[in-house]
Amino acid sequence: MTDRYAVFGHPIAHSKSPLIHAAFAAQTGQDMVYEAMLAPLDGFAAAVTAFRDAGGRGCNVTVPFKEQAYALCAPSERAREAGAVNTLSFADGRMLGDNTDGAGLVADLTANLGVGLAGRQVLLMGAGGAARGVVGPLLRAGVAGMVIVNRTPDKAVALAAGFSGLGADVLGCGYHDAQGTFDLVINATAASLAGEAPPLAPTVFAPGALAYDMMYGRDTPFLAFARAAGARTADGLGMLVEQAAEAFLIWRGVRPLTAPVLQRLRAG
Ligand code: ATR
Repeated sequence: MTDRYAVFGHPIAHSKSPLIHAAFAAQTGQDMVYEAMLAPLDGFAAAVTAFRDAGGRGCNVTVPFKEQAYALCAPSERAREAGAVNTLSFADGRMLGDNTDGAGLVADLTANLGVGLAGRQVLLMGAGGAARGVVGPLLRAGVAGMVIVNRTPDKAVALAAGFSGLGADVLGCGYHDAQGTFDLVINATAASLAGEAPPLAPTVFAPGALAYDMMYGRDTPFLAFARAAGARTADGLGMLVEQAAEAFLIWRGVRPLTAPVLQRLRAG
């Protein structure tokens, strides 16, 4: 029987995940289907449970349900660190939760964009769920220092404090308190959704710096700002494909090739 997977979110109609997983399945010869499912804002747990009970094997979880998914499942170590789950697997009546977002970002940076993370200085903008999911994986990839900046500085301070034991210098502060220049500047805020750029000084970019916006699908005010300041830019489409590949590996035990899928999405 064909195995069923899905992505749950609200909204979900725009999701590229069904396309990505269909391409992975075709490439690796896996007998599976993957569909986008709209869960009601107050009915995520019921929707996921019904999907599992109807024979679903696993699902991805996107905005705004990642924290709720975490509360529903037995979380992996990296899900615990992120405080959120984007990948659920159903086995023997258990719901296992993982978070592949951080691994997806690191894979996009290193494999697709050719950024060596070891020894780099990183400026991470935002202190919400999206930011929290990538701090640990970036630190473990060997960055030398990370400054987390947020509109509400206290949240950046608290986020940084939670990751102080991972070897690198991690500091949280407000936008205007970030000192120095950075090789990698990552936008993990929701500012792009509002058509805004975070209040960043154009002097934060080190020579050759990469500005990365986790959002994809349009040129964001942050990326336009970074380009004008001389930085190289990348959107989050590669991260989307890479986090999907990590989820596919968890479910199917096979790692798909991401480059042809990313290329196809970029071609539109
Ligand atoms: P997500 O799960 O996408 O991270 P979230 O947890 O609501 O969503 O966090 C949103 C993040 O974007 C926060 O860091 C928020 O800053 P505050 O903590 O100060 O609210 C940030 N954010 C949202 N809109 C922003 C804007 N226009 N400029 C800068 N930061 C913004």
